Amino acid sequence: MSTLAVYPGSFDPLTNGHVDIILRGARLFDRIVVAILVNAEKAPLFSIQERVEIAREVFKDQRNVEVDTFGGLLVDYVEARKAQVIVRGLRAVSDFEFEFQMALMNRRLNSKIETVFMMPAEQYTYISSRLIKEVFALGGGVHGLVPDLVEQRLRQKV
Ligand code: PNS
Repeated sequence: MSTLAVYPGSFDPLTNGHVDIILRGARLFDRIVVAILVNAEKAPLFSIQERVEIAREVFKDQRNVEVDTFGGLLVDYVEARKAQVIVRGLRAVSDFEFEFQMALMNRRLNSKIETVFMMPAEQYTYISSRLIKEVFALGGGVHGLVPDLVEQRLRQKV
């Protein structure tokens, strides 16, 4: 049986922490779908089309990484895709509480789907999309924390 994993998130924008988790997932599972939530935030910095385009470009050479969008309940999307696993990254203890709640709620909603947590490389443990946007907007450098394409696209936003 081949294992399909779904890595859901807002990815506004994609960071090197996300990239690290996706590449780890791509080594562990037969296929991993980067599933970008539609309408998560009322005013995202990057439109859903931009986020899809960025992720597709970043992973264009990764044959078992797919980029898709979803709306509604995550477990419904995972079931519709016939995937078995939800992948989430855990950076620090502070992530744990919310991730624990989501994993158990998702299990209650669909007990066939397993959530697997993965730790990113140490150098990415403090990065979040929110901090990237804030630091960049205030003139700070984010080089090395996001893919080069994201850095270019951030420059086009200001
Ligand atoms: O990148 P994020 O914002 O941490 O991702 C959160 C995400 C998209 C995984 C979560 O908000 C989600 O799954 N939303 C879909 C709606 C849903 O299923 N909610 C119940 C989760 S227990």
